[in-house]
Amino acid sequence: MPTDSSVVMEQAVQTLHNGGLVAFPTETVYGLGADARNPEAIHKIFTAKGRPSNHPLIVHLAAPTQSGTANKDWTSLLAPWVRDLSDDALKLMNAFWPGPLTLVFKKDKSVLHELTGGQDTVAIRVPAHPMAQELLRKFNGGVVAPSANRFGKVSPTSAADVRSEFEGILDLMILDGGDCEVGIESTILDLSSSDQAILLRPGMITPSEIFTKTGIKVWLPNEVGSAKDASSLPRVSGSLRAHYAPTTPLRLYSPGRVLDALSEFPDIKSRVAVGVWESESSLSEDGHPSAHFEEVLIPSDSAAFANRLYRLLRDLDQQAWDLILFPEPPAGQEWDGVRDRLQRACFGSGPSSISHASN
Ligand code: TXA
Ligand code: MG
Repeated sequence: MPTDSSVVMEQAVQTLHNGGLVAFPTETVYGLGADARNPEAIHKIFTAKGRPSNHPLIVHLAAPTQSGTANKDWTSLLAPWVRDLSDDALKLMNAFWPGPLTLVFKKDKSVLHELTGGQDTVAIRVPAHPMAQELLRKFNGGVVAPSANRFGKVSPTSAADVRSEFEGILDLMILDGGDCEVGIESTILDLSSSDQAILLRPGMITPSEIFTKTGIKVWLPNEVGSAKDASSLPRVSGSLRAHYAPTTPLRLYSPGRVLDALSEFPDIKSRVAVGVWESESSLSEDGHPSAHFEEVLIPSDSAAFANRLYRLLRDLDQQAWDLILFPEPPAGQEWDGVRDRLQRACFGSGPSSISHASN
């Protein structure tokens, strides 16, 4: 690493030690980091994001290393944070860490209630991005890091996105690690209160991939019995119906139904951006309803769409469209993360008076 970047990294580590905030890249989205053992630093995160203080944060940890190779010693890494680790938890870590999977455990008593929103569980993630790993390794402790956006807004996937979120609000140190590869937030699994693994937030690691690699069945919240109904599940801010939202109204359309989606907005006559699958490349079935209707190509592959999703929403939001229409993602687990973010983005987008059914 050139000297310049090691100086910057050193400053970032020092900032965390001093109770400051550092935005850093992960493979999913950029995080807004603070020392997980410092209540004042954690408080700064909630203030900067405008996030309700009862929404818990994820603790990020460096992967264990021994002479440069991962030794998979998850037990000692997690001991200061987590009460106990099941065999299933170890299987999941061996299969997916470092990577875009967050696991929720019963917390060790030393874990600050400021970061857990007062719950007795803690979410842990070991990110794969080399710059995140370097920061965590050099800091040598846990770093809480929500996505580095204002509460409810589109998550940032580049250093410039982070800058634009906090410009004029916060003097923030930002580590620039380029564009995020995955593009949407990590999959979250709750392992805290039974022997079942429960999906709290879909992401690009899917239940079927988890089953294939570990033999562990992942349950959806609505599949787990009355002993664990939705109200007893931990709070996940990403589970609010309105989230990840652009300012421009956004709606999804079913195949061949652009005009139906438009009819929901009788006042909008112009400046409509319509997402079209790259593989189809034109909306011939519908015809063009307006002279100011413009097609925006959308990747037809789920990983490529996830990688571009927040970038597209941010860019389109900058372009003063009256309305953005995106095609509904197809069925299938590989699309669940993208579909979830899009539905919440629709619900929270535009003037708050527009009502829309989300999941
Ligand atoms: O990919 C990611 O997970 C990114 C990067 C920066 O690591 N982080 C992220 O953080 O998405 P945030 O705060 O935007 O979303 C974390 C989610 C929230 O919805 C929060 O409610 C949930 O994790 N969470 C945190 N602790 C939890 C807990 N103890 N139980 C249940 N959910 C928890
Ligand atoms: Mg977030």
